[in-house]
Amino acid sequence: MIFVTGGAGYIGSHTCVELLNAGHQVTVFDNFSNSQPEALHRVERITGKRVNLIKGDIRDLPTLQQALKTCGAQAVIHFAGLKAVGESVEQPLNYYDNNVMGTLKLLQAMQTCGVKNIVFSSSATVYGDPQRLPLTEDHPLSTTNPYGQTKLVIEHMLRDLYHSDVSWRIGILRYFNPVGAHASGLIGEDPQGTPNNLLPFIAQVAVGRREFLNVWGNDYDTPDGTGVRDYIHVVDLAHGHLAALRRLQIQPQCIAVNLGTGIGYSVLDMVRAFEKASGKPVAYKFSPRRAGDIASCFADASLAHQLLGWQSERDLATMCQDAWRWQSNYPMGYAKV
Ligand code: NAD
Ligand code: UFG
Repeated sequence: MIFVTGGAGYIGSHTCVELLNAGHQVTVFDNFSNSQPEALHRVERITGKRVNLIKGDIRDLPTLQQALKTCGAQAVIHFAGLKAVGESVEQPLNYYDNNVMGTLKLLQAMQTCGVKNIVFSSSATVYGDPQRLPLTEDHPLSTTNPYGQTKLVIEHMLRDLYHSDVSWRIGILRYFNPVGAHASGLIGEDPQGTPNNLLPFIAQVAVGRREFLNVWGNDYDTPDGTGVRDYIHVVDLAHGHLAALRRLQIQPQCIAVNLGTGIGYSVLDMVRAFEKASGKPVAYKFSPRRAGDIASCFADASLAHQLLGWQSERDLATMCQDAWRWQSNYPMGYAKV
């Protein structure tokens, strides 16, 4: 039984599909602060299998302990957390409470229940402003915002835990920029309010929910002056979690691995690719740089290949086609079904 915190969210729901398809049983533990139960109904529809759902908050230790015990969890995939960089600057205590305190409680509950196997959602944000590209896992760690700090603190907490007890199995996965949706078009990213991230914003322009995209800066030291990122299909990312679980089965260990494609695309590359995939125009305007943004960020993805036997398979056209299928099927996301 795999215990998935935050399993109703964007990456969690896609990972649940792949876990179920691979024959795992899945318990989702989610407080629905940024998701809806409907996502899990869709997961059941796609897979024809049942998801065991427990509504709860990872900061609630007794409920967590009870949930881990009763479902017979063998491993945890820990997605639950808040993830908006701008919001984290305005509400740092909320982010430390939810992300750091929540993970602390989760690890305490796991320790009590003897479940010492965890895959954690970290982020390329822990590399700060890259000193060299592509980013390898031994690049110095630093952050520029409270959200990133919470990821870094949690990574340190996990490494300290492993050093105190080497029977733990810990996989830290540093995601680059997850985009796209399941090929069925039934589940996808459903941001609340104005999307912070590029692809959901572009998709909402294409579907007519927004007038134009603000391109934050066209004077970066990149081929076309706009920011370059490593976009990875969310289904490839989901497979990376299964690969990490398999790796952790071999022996106790604590590993940190990038999940990216190794390819960087600019904002304008993304606009053009989405226009092609959707057949819709995506109007945009150049605006000043967004505070805290970096010029370029892309992974060296070779360690994931070496350690996990994993590499991304879906190209940019597939990412955009799948994102568009979801967006055009459900222009208002899960809310208006
Ligand atoms: P998401 O917001 O869609 O999913 C997070 C889920 O966790 C939601 O279902 C939410 O309701 C739940 N949750 C939040 N706080 C909780 C709590 N205290 N108790 C129980 N449930 C709680 O986000 P996502 O994009 O799927 O991201 C998943 C993880 O991956 C997060 O930890 C995020 O920081 C990390 N990550 C995401 C990205 C990205 O660009 N999407 C990049 C790098 C890392
Ligand atoms: N961008 C725009 N207009 C928008 C939104 C984004 O031009 O409306 C640009 C940004 O300036 C950047 C690129 O598109 O150049 C990507 O921006 P995102 O906000 O989609 O992604 P980031 O790389 O800034 O950050 C994301 C997550 C972070 C995570 C990081 C690395 O939001 O939480 O990827 O995983 F840490």
